[in-house]
Amino acid sequence: MAKNNTVNGGISLFWKLSTTFLVLLLMVGAVHITLSISASDQYYLKRNQKLNANIAQSIIQEVKPIINGEVTKNALDDIMHHMMAVNPSIEVYLLDKTGYILSHVAPYKKVKLKTVSLAPIQEFIDNNGEEFVQGDDPRKPGELQIFSAAAITDNDEVQGYVYVVLAGEDYYAVASNLWDEYITSLGGSSMVITLVAALVIGLIAIWFITRNLRGIIDVVRRFQDGDLEARISAKSGKEFNTLSLAFNDMADTIVGNIENLKSMENLRRELVGNVSHDLRTPLAVIHGYIETLMIKKDQLSIEERDKYLAIILSSTEKLKKMVAELFELSKLESKQVHPKKEPFFINELLQDVVQKYLILARKKGVLIQSVISNNIELVNADIALIERVLQNLIDNALKFTPEGGTITIKTNEMDSAVEIQVADTGVGIPEEQIPFVFDRYHIGDKRLSLDKNTTGLGLAIVKKILEIHDATINLSSKLNQGTSFSFQLPYHQA
Ligand SMILES: Nc1ncnc2c1ncn2[C@@H]1O[C@H](COP(=O)(O)OP(=O)(O)OP(=O)(O)O)[C@@H](O)[C@H]1O
Ligand SMILES: [Mg+2]
Repeated sequence: MAKNNTVNGGISLFWKLSTTFLVLLLMVGAVHITLSISASDQYYLKRNQKLNANIAQSIIQEVKPIINGEVTKNALDDIMHHMMAVNPSIEVYLLDKTGYILSHVAPYKKVKLKTVSLAPIQEFIDNNGEEFVQGDDPRKPGELQIFSAAAITDNDEVQGYVYVVLAGEDYYAVASNLWDEYITSLGGSSMVITLVAALVIGLIAIWFITRNLRGIIDVVRRFQDGDLEARISAKSGKEFNTLSLAFNDMADTIVGNIENLKSMENLRRELVGNVSHDLRTPLAVIHGYIETLMIKKDQLSIEERDKYLAIILSSTEKLKKMVAELFELSKLESKQVHPKKEPFFINELLQDVVQKYLILARKKGVLIQSVISNNIELVNADIALIERVLQNLIDNALKFTPEGGTITIKTNEMDSAVEIQVADTGVGIPEEQIPFVFDRYHIGDKRLSLDKNTTGLGLAIVKKILEIHDATINLSSKLNQGTSFSFQLPYHQA
């Protein structure tokens, strides 16, 4: 279904473009023919005028049509003969100096104008017939005609004009028809050849362009039908580079958003699952003790009551911590947390964290020893997350190291990274438990989980944080001797 649409869409686009192109070609052809006919008419007129420019002059050289302001009859007859001999199609007019037609030789035709405009005649004489000028046609008022003209002078004074209208009607009609036919057939056939060639080339070009467009449309449809991997290839996107890039970018954004929504959805699901499952135990404990307190209100001793209240308090504290840690871990696991990496001095961070634990350690009778180099290169990582890692590791070390023990925080500079180690002389981890300590809710000594503020999420969080830093955590432990955790952070590349 979608496939058909794609093909139809592409093909109909091809036909639409082709038809438009054909119409355009025909229009261009029509304009071309019209222009070439009118240009050829003009050409014919100009050529004819130029060829016959001297006719009027040569007539005056033969005869004197006006002598002392009087028209000479004989002269007129002479002109007629003369003219007939030269060219039977021309018409000769004798004008006085105002343009009034004194006499004419125009066989078989009726002359309608009484005066002829002098301006074009003057222009013609001034230019010696070099420029193209059209003047009045005495037989057809309002129409312009090519002509030849010459001034009749007597003692340097203009007496009148000989005005010769060239190419009389009939002759002109025949000649012009022949000429037009010639131009039309020549122009027509070359026009047809050009049109066909342009059409073929145009159709091929349109085919290629729409082929690429069809490729693009195809990808868009595939994407629309759910193929989120569909991208326009560099090849089919060549002619429509911007469009293709924009589509690919848009597709990437959409896919990214879908991924985001998915991971948000996962987070939500995990949280709901974890909260309902993991909070049940502490809630049940709290519930149980509160119930006991209410039922046995009067039978309980003050010590018992205080003990129950203390349990409730620590359970609520545990709940609080658990909710916070669950949320943190769920976020990490659903990839909602992106490390905001920045260069910083790891030794400064280590010293800060150690400082915070000194009092707690002293209270417990545990010594914190730091072997931290002072001039370690800048590392590139998310400070807050790395601080969280260190807190969890030192928390554990403190929790699992009895009085008199030592916790050592050490840096170890390597080629491209610095290694950070948190070691203790505590209870150690039984060998069979080592593979599981990074699992969520793994608590080595179950007795701890009730009394102490323990959720079993600490190391799972550590592992996740290091994972999004592309780092791994190493662990070595010996039962009753101690445990050591270490991880590496790469130096900042300037
Ligand atoms: N330094 C250590 N020495 C001995 N055992 C350890 C040490 N660190 C972790 N463990 C073991 O690994 C288990 C998991 O540690 P993790 O930090 O994930 O949870 P937790 O410390 O029990 O609880 P939480 O950190 O959430 O309060 C611990 O319960 C303990 O058994
Ligand atoms: Mg812990």
